[in-house]
Amino acid sequence: MSTPDQPLLDIRDINVVYRGARWRSPSFHALHDVSMRIGAGETVGLVGESGSGKTTLGRAVLGLAPVTSGTVTFDGRDITHARRRERRALSRDIQVVFQDPYSSLNPAMTVESILAEPLRAQGVPGSEAAARINQLLDQIGLEADAGRRYPREFSGGQRQRIAIARALALKPRLIVCDEPVSALDLSTQARILDLLIEVQEQTGVAYLFVSHDLSVVRYICHRVAVMLKGRIVETGEGDVVTSRPEHPYTKRLLMASPIPDPVRQAERRRRYAALA
Ligand SMILES: Nc1ncnc2c1ncn2[C@@H]1O[C@H](COP(=O)(O)OP(=O)(O)OP(=O)(O)O)[C@@H](O)[C@H]1O
Ligand SMILES: [Mg+2]
Repeated sequence: MSTPDQPLLDIRDINVVYRGARWRSPSFHALHDVSMRIGAGETVGLVGESGSGKTTLGRAVLGLAPVTSGTVTFDGRDITHARRRERRALSRDIQVVFQDPYSSLNPAMTVESILAEPLRAQGVPGSEAAARINQLLDQIGLEADAGRRYPREFSGGQRQRIAIARALALKPRLIVCDEPVSALDLSTQARILDLLIEVQEQTGVAYLFVSHDLSVVRYICHRVAVMLKGRIVETGEGDVVTSRPEHPYTKRLLMASPIPDPVRQAERRRRYAALA
């Protein structure tokens, strides 16, 4: 169980260096001494311009980026360099939703088999898996017969719902969401963000929420970290960082983003405070 002293996810001073692809091609220092903590049931946003290192930090949590120093601790356990078997076990607890619901779902598989895959990989028996799949479809707001259809038969927003259901299948405690609504139109974005909020209220899952869009982050995040050239330059309460930033870089990001929804944000903060 995570407490304020021991957060669910604790990233300390990590550095990520990508080696050059070819012999003698230069390496690239993508993250510099990055630290971040995420509590159980909390949403922490990560914003910054393209190339600042947001996806790299998410990948470091998932064990997919070359961490050269520092530690990633999950639920008190050092997972920085977890081996394959340990990673497989960790996938019960840590899941991911990507930006593009078109390429992240296998077009040759029915929705049912897409959702069954993580369950089968963890040895969940067939009958139990079938019940879980129905539950998941209901949770994300799709009809039960959606399971027999293929990803191409759904809209972008519905596909992202399916990707979210797949991430939820094993009841994870943390989901890395990498620009999960960036490919969607505005009204669909709002509905998917509401779904993520609802899922969090029901399950207590935490999100590391990567986005380049401050208004999206303001809507969904309790806290926000701002990344610039592989460093975190500002962190704080979601609505403070996204409405009264300190750092000139965040101020620039803010000027490029639409009007906030303070009423909604205040309500969300109250609900979070009531949970704590
Ligand atoms: N596998 C890799 N090998 C070498 N360099 C990489 C690799 N992946 C990312 N980089 C570099 O690391 C830096 C950070 O990339 P990253 O994808 O984390 O940025 P980002 O903030 O997610 O950007 P975007 O908003 O465009 O998604 C970039 O300069 C990128 O070119
Ligand atoms: Mg990215």
